[in-house]
Amino acid sequence: MARVDRIDSVPGEEGAGPGGRYNGAMSDPAIYAARREALMQAIGANGVAVVASLPERLRNGDAFHPFRQASDVFYLTGFVEPETTLVLRPGAEIDKFVMFVRPRDPEMETWDGRRAGLEGAVARYGANVAYPSAELRTRIGDLICNTDELHYALGNDPAMDTAITGALARLRHLEKKGKRPPRAVVDPRAALHELRLHKRPEELAALRMACAITADAHILAMRTGKPGVFEHEVEAHIDFTFRRRGGDGPGYTSIIGAGDNATILHYIENRCAIADGDLVLVDAGCEYGHYTSDITRTFPANGTFTAPQRRVYELVLRVQKAAIAMAKPGATLDQIHQYCVRELTVGMVALGLLTGDVDELIRAETYKRFYPHGTSHWLGLDVHDAGAYTVDGKARLLAPGMVITVEPGLYIPSDAENVPAELRGIGVRIEDDLAITAEGCEVLTRACPKEIVDVEAACRA
Ligand code: GLY
Ligand code: MN
Ligand code: MN
Repeated sequence: MARVDRIDSVPGEEGAGPGGRYNGAMSDPAIYAARREALMQAIGANGVAVVASLPERLRNGDAFHPFRQASDVFYLTGFVEPETTLVLRPGAEIDKFVMFVRPRDPEMETWDGRRAGLEGAVARYGANVAYPSAELRTRIGDLICNTDELHYALGNDPAMDTAITGALARLRHLEKKGKRPPRAVVDPRAALHELRLHKRPEELAALRMACAITADAHILAMRTGKPGVFEHEVEAHIDFTFRRRGGDGPGYTSIIGAGDNATILHYIENRCAIADGDLVLVDAGCEYGHYTSDITRTFPANGTFTAPQRRVYELVLRVQKAAIAMAKPGATLDQIHQYCVRELTVGMVALGLLTGDVDELIRAETYKRFYPHGTSHWLGLDVHDAGAYTVDGKARLLAPGMVITVEPGLYIPSDAENVPAELRGIGVRIEDDLAITAEGCEVLTRACPKEIVDVEAACRA
């Protein structure tokens, strides 16, 4: 039974420690306190939120994947350790913010690294009270009972789901003792993800840095991705830039696809040699302070687009730039996507990739043969960031503070039938990240070249 109440300071724990290493504005505890306050306002006095880390995952043998904090936990605390559960109780008289964390353990810390412990959770992460992670099951029922709505993401972690549903089942039998379960379990999109959708200035600052580093990495990729070089060598240059510039690393697995590999949407093997005449598609984004960029560029390995490559690239670029111009308050991602679908379909007919009436090609979704994915998604702590895409069944209107991608592409596999032979094996995607502003949008990734003349110059540098 270990409980630590609020304390003013923890001797010897000032300065950078576990979770204290996040630099810049994002290390300010007031930022996270304001987010928790906003969440508590949103869920109301009759609600309670339980937000948990995902489990550490074995990679192979006894080696684990590097742990990366669940974005919801990070958003509310900046706390980066595993085995963490947050309980936010806006209606409680005391202990409105409870953290379950790994306790200090000198022997374990010698092996696996420092821990903030219960003391650090209270002193540095703002918990009113902290308990050991191992006590979650026995305590969670008392923390969530007698509320109306439990905001909890069912389905992410079976072990945590069992802890929660077990507590709900036990509470059903304790009504005579004055404890009843919450009446409803509510998806975290309702309150927490609505907050995450609207980026605050400190989040935009982190995203700007992530995008600036990523732009540099793509420029280096253009410079180094020459014929004879392997895709994984380009990936190594990208990873080097991400880490050297202070990023956490890639925000998602980088795609480096040369030639026909560029037509495989989620190509992540990155093991082939780049050939003379190849286009190289690179989709890579740096995570900085837990916020990720998401840029795609496509460049000619030998520094010059061939005429067919240029025709496909110019089409995608023209459509992408026009789509970016549509990104402003009041527009919807669906409108942007529908615009791209129509313009790309018109272009596909002009290129000889498709034949027939444009309206019918769209209605029958024939265009998906060469443009099978969506145009945009939210961007933030997750590459496909949190936030509902519809509100009351209608496409959500864009508003200042939302961050999105715009990423049209065309992918013509080398074995595509009934297409001009010179277009086979060409894959092009151009992806930028935008922050919606009052007037329109700020292109966060504008430092990354995409005009043909600029891309060719970067490749020849
Ligand atoms: N890199 C993932 C995406 O573009 O959606
Ligand atoms: Mn994307
Ligand atoms: Mn991408």
